[in-house]
Amino acid sequence: MGMTKKKNAPKYKIEGFRGIFIFLFGLSGIINILALTGALYMMQIYDRALTSGSISTLVALSVLAVGLYLFQGFFDIVRSQILIRLGARLDTELAPLAHKVVIEMPRYGYSTSEAMERGRDVDTLRGFLSGQGPIALFDLPWMPIYLIFVWLLHPMLGMLTVGGALILAILTILAEVLTRRHSQSMVKATVARNSVADSNARNSEIMHAMGITGRAVKRFEAANGRHLECQTATSDIGGTLSGLSKVMRMVLQSAILGLGAYLAIRGDMSAGSIIASSIVTARALAPVDQVIAQWKSVVAARRSRNRLDETLAVINDTSDHVELPAPHKSLSIENITTVAPSTGAVLLSEVTLQLKAGQALGLIGPSGGGKTTLARSILGIWPVLRGSVRIDGADLSQWTENFFHSHVGYLPQDVALMDGTIADNISRFAETPDAREIVRAAQNAGIHEMIVHLRDGYQTELGPHGTALSAGQRQRIALARALYGDPFLIVLDEPNSNLDAEGEEALTRVITKVRERGGIVVIVAHRPSALQAVDMVGLVQNGRLVAFGPKDEIVQPTKVLPIVVDRKPSTAGLKSMSAE
Ligand SMILES: Nc1ncnc2c1ncn2[C@@H]1O[C@H](COP(=O)(O)OP(=O)(O)OP(=O)(O)O)[C@@H](O)[C@H]1O
Ligand SMILES: [Mg+2]
Repeated sequence: MGMTKKKNAPKYKIEGFRGIFIFLFGLSGIINILALTGALYMMQIYDRALTSGSISTLVALSVLAVGLYLFQGFFDIVRSQILIRLGARLDTELAPLAHKVVIEMPRYGYSTSEAMERGRDVDTLRGFLSGQGPIALFDLPWMPIYLIFVWLLHPMLGMLTVGGALILAILTILAEVLTRRHSQSMVKATVARNSVADSNARNSEIMHAMGITGRAVKRFEAANGRHLECQTATSDIGGTLSGLSKVMRMVLQSAILGLGAYLAIRGDMSAGSIIASSIVTARALAPVDQVIAQWKSVVAARRSRNRLDETLAVINDTSDHVELPAPHKSLSIENITTVAPSTGAVLLSEVTLQLKAGQALGLIGPSGGGKTTLARSILGIWPVLRGSVRIDGADLSQWTENFFHSHVGYLPQDVALMDGTIADNISRFAETPDAREIVRAAQNAGIHEMIVHLRDGYQTELGPHGTALSAGQRQRIALARALYGDPFLIVLDEPNSNLDAEGEEALTRVITKVRERGGIVVIVAHRPSALQAVDMVGLVQNGRLVAFGPKDEIVQPTKVLPIVVDRKPSTAGLKSMSAE
């Protein structure tokens, strides 16, 4: 993970689970002691009931045994129910945090599939907790009870069992060592395969139009093949070792019987003890067996937990910030340098500018010059490496999510609407949307008429990515979304790229209105028609703000400042934010 660590990361309360774990450990002790019932019962039958020939002893012993079995069963059920609920509780606490990570990661240059893995990590953890794995882990430390029991029957039997347990333990460690090497490449292969699947699914249209489907399937096949290879390798190790351990178990079982018989023949032990020792060794080694069988899920759960810990550490939790008064004065950018989160390349350097309430800045410049990067830096989408972005004097990091919700409007260059209704999208999924506000925003964006002509009007479901609308319609709805609630700072990245003449007029009116009410607009534009209502202009070129000032000075009525198209992004090796 290359993201920088933040101090105020939200923490899920694993500490709160400690008490439950101790309780479960104790409960497992009781269960394991009760599990000696069968062995003791056998011994008593052989050595007491059979020799004395007393039916009443047999009945009394049987009733007692059944009672103890019932107790054991009851505690077993309680333990498994606690574990299941523990899994659910962990899920409830973790899932929202993990989902936040899923949302944040793509901003830092991670693929969506990689981000989605974090959501799956929660499932893995919950699944593990409610499966057989933890039960085996809780039973394992109680193994000495059985060893002592066998040892008391005869030290030689004890030694044989300990020897067997050691061999099984070595097999477990071997499994760990051998699979560890593979688990990392396994994760990479999974992410790679999912990335290809994801990208293929998203590009369905061009796949069809340009006949790429066949090749796309081949690409997926290759990624899937690598995934399968890793899968096969780890499964092979697991399968071989669990086969070996099974053989070991059987050999050991017979060896115990054989040794017991030998000791009995020599008169060192009773016949009942042979059976008892056989039952108890089986029970003693069962958790070892289980742990070996469950090793894959133990490893997966541990990996998920580590990964979640790592990623949760980077979420910047603003919930403890002091709420600042609504902004109304200025936006000032002080000497900022921004790097691409994914590659660490410097995309923007030493940009300084200031805007007061009521001003509108038009950003122009050649393609790839850094306009979008500047817009992203202003909104904190990409954290700046150096310098600061201040609103009313306060650095962006001091503002809460609520500030961004109420006082910032953003229209990204690649318009993306969310799965929901038009009203949901415009109101930014507000819990209590203000219908009048929604309509006003739509009217300002010049899209109200079009919306009411739709069959479901503002309640029209847009489907994934808002695909139910044309590109121009989507852009205007996104504009309405940026305007909703009269935010103080509005950043529009090429809002006119899909607009018709009428749409551009609406845009000019919007900018004028925002300026009149004392807001600040930053608008990125290729076409000068979008600059009619702005008073300031900045020229972004080669990752620098090469000119900034009043519009009349920067853009002459007849000629626009010559734009140099040669473009060399400085890629000084600033890898501080790079992904692994
Ligand atoms: N996610 C990214 N990761 C790495 N580099 C990026 C990323 N996005 C953009 N860049 C690079 O940053 C530089 C500036 O891109 P930016 O999107 O800011 O340009 P722009 O001025 O908005 O161009 P356009 O007018 O085409 O939208 C480009 O060289 C581009 O290759
Ligand atoms: Mg751009």
